[in-house]
Amino acid sequence: MKGVVFNLLERIVIREYGEDTWDELLDSAELHGSYTSLGSYPDADLSKLVGAASARLDTPPDEIVRWFGRNALPLFAENYPQLFERHSSTRTFVLTLNDIIHPEVRKLYPGADVPVFDFDPGPDGTLRMGYRSPRKLCSFAEGLLQGAAQHYGEQVAVEQPRCMKRGDERCVLEISFTANGATP
Ligand code: HEM
Repeated sequence: MKGVVFNLLERIVIREYGEDTWDELLDSAELHGSYTSLGSYPDADLSKLVGAASARLDTPPDEIVRWFGRNALPLFAENYPQLFERHSSTRTFVLTLNDIIHPEVRKLYPGADVPVFDFDPGPDGTLRMGYRSPRKLCSFAEGLLQGAAQHYGEQVAVEQPRCMKRGDERCVLEISFTANGATP
């Protein structure tokens, strides 16, 4: 996992809970916390930090990861506005993940291990998104989707009929979008 992910987590935890909490999380995860954005670090570091946050906040790990994704998205939008500006909806933005967004991430952060999604757009505006990764970060994807929806003034509802964490071969996210203020 690239250091930028840890830098974002640090920024968000400090903003929401203060420096002491971040230091506490590092201590209980037995990590030093000196992450440089272009460095690569063990995936296990993220799991340890999530585990520590889960215990500290008495919140399930998946909810922590989702919260992280939701809060990370606006920081991506701040740093890479050009990826967002060409869209006016979450759906079209998300559909550029494989061809534009994550390939761009790989240029910016060589060695980034970004997932490839498969998409099955429904006729009613829904989107089925398949995901397979040894990191099993479908909750991160869900949080990022929620953050993206907020960016475009929409809401997303995500159901997950399949999940690698429940023993399925891949995760499937069934996403529906509604504009804020619209009746679904
Ligand atoms: C809704 C939109 C997005 C979704 C669903 C998504 C999903 C994900 C997921 C699930 C991962 C975890 C890696 C894995 O599963 O193996 C990931 C990694 C990552 N994504 Fe995205 N992503 C989105 C948008 C973005 C944007 C806009 C950026 C930045 C401009 C970005 C940058 C990254 C980076 C830096 C990583 C870490 C790669 C690594 O450490 O090796 N993503 N993304």
